[in-house]
Amino acid sequence: MVFVTSTWTEPSPTATALLLLGHGSDPASERGVDCPGDLPAPSDPGLVARAEAAKAALGDRVFVLGHHYQRDEVIRFADVTGDSFKLAREAAARPDAEFIVFCGVHFMAESADILTGDHQRVVLPDLAAGCSMADMAVLGQVETAWDLFTDLGIADSVVPVTYMNSSADIKGFVGRNSGVVCTSSNAKRALTWAFERGEKVFFLPDQHLGRNTAVLEMGFDLDDCVLYDPHKPHGGLTPEQLRDAKMILWRGHCSVHGRFTLDSVREVRERVPGVNVLVHPECRHDVVRAADQVGSTEYIIKALEAAPAGSAWAVGTELNLVRRLALAHPDKQIMFLDRTVCYCSTMNRIDLPHLVWALEELVAGRVPNQITVDPDTAHHARAALDQMLALP
Ligand code: 13P
Ligand code: SF4
Repeated sequence: MVFVTSTWTEPSPTATALLLLGHGSDPASERGVDCPGDLPAPSDPGLVARAEAAKAALGDRVFVLGHHYQRDEVIRFADVTGDSFKLAREAAARPDAEFIVFCGVHFMAESADILTGDHQRVVLPDLAAGCSMADMAVLGQVETAWDLFTDLGIADSVVPVTYMNSSADIKGFVGRNSGVVCTSSNAKRALTWAFERGEKVFFLPDQHLGRNTAVLEMGFDLDDCVLYDPHKPHGGLTPEQLRDAKMILWRGHCSVHGRFTLDSVREVRERVPGVNVLVHPECRHDVVRAADQVGSTEYIIKALEAAPAGSAWAVGTELNLVRRLALAHPDKQIMFLDRTVCYCSTMNRIDLPHLVWALEELVAGRVPNQITVDPDTAHHARAALDQMLALP
């Protein structure tokens, strides 16, 4: 067996205030920062025992879902871990759990609420765990865009597709307009489905996933894609551009994956000859083009599991996951694609104190931080989510 031990190098602290997202930013873009009740101190040495005791006391009444970007201290308490697609399916498949504790971000908990029964309660341990990409598409802006398509006479030929990383409002809009939700694991299948039903796709909110899938997996040209900027009149586009486009991409992006650049890829190829560059499709188009492989978090995990001992990998996705994979596979040289720290600051909001607090509240008979979607939005969003789950 080949052992390449101790190759993990912690990236340097970021110069920018990524870890402080929320401070000084628009407070309306956060989903609330209060944590009612007594939050245990992070230094409490009994936190692990308290989490274990609370989970044991709740037994089968609680099911804990953990997204791959969660901290190690939280992921160890997850009953199942997964990417956003797998977690949506797992939530839908647990009708007996009274409480679903979602260790992830707000849009994931909303989707879980939509996909679970009325008797089930979905809990997000910290309400400030939002997603900056999801916040980049607001329902009013999206309706303005759709009104423009209607005025131009193209709305009937446009199928809306939204990435899972969007609010329930946006999923509801997509469901109302006969569209579909997608994740990074099934974006190609969702686009194929959409193009069988219309001439154009209106892709929300991640321009990169939309462009990467259309161009690199579906054979479209970059010129077939236009970028709709909600902050500009008419999206910054002419009627001709909108009429000619195949993919109308919303101007949204992930602030974590957007940090990887072509220079990061060039630099690692120079430093580590033979390295395989593996990135998430939320990365920019030039980065994905320069990479050797692209895929969702679930894909990245499987690719590294299957990689031969001794092989070298530079991985472009969130740091908690990359570090966990590097430590889980000491026989492979797994490194972070960027030289600096790149956590998802909102995913990181769910820490052990918040998880302990949420579980203990449930034990005490109180339901903290419940995420609920209003019935009308949930009905239409569910249509778009069910369509995704039924994709061939
Ligand atoms: P997946 O879980 O679909 O890979 O998406 C990554 C992500 O950014 C989740 O917020
Ligand atoms: Fe949102 Fe990006 Fe964080 Fe995922 S990694 S929750 S897309 S900001």
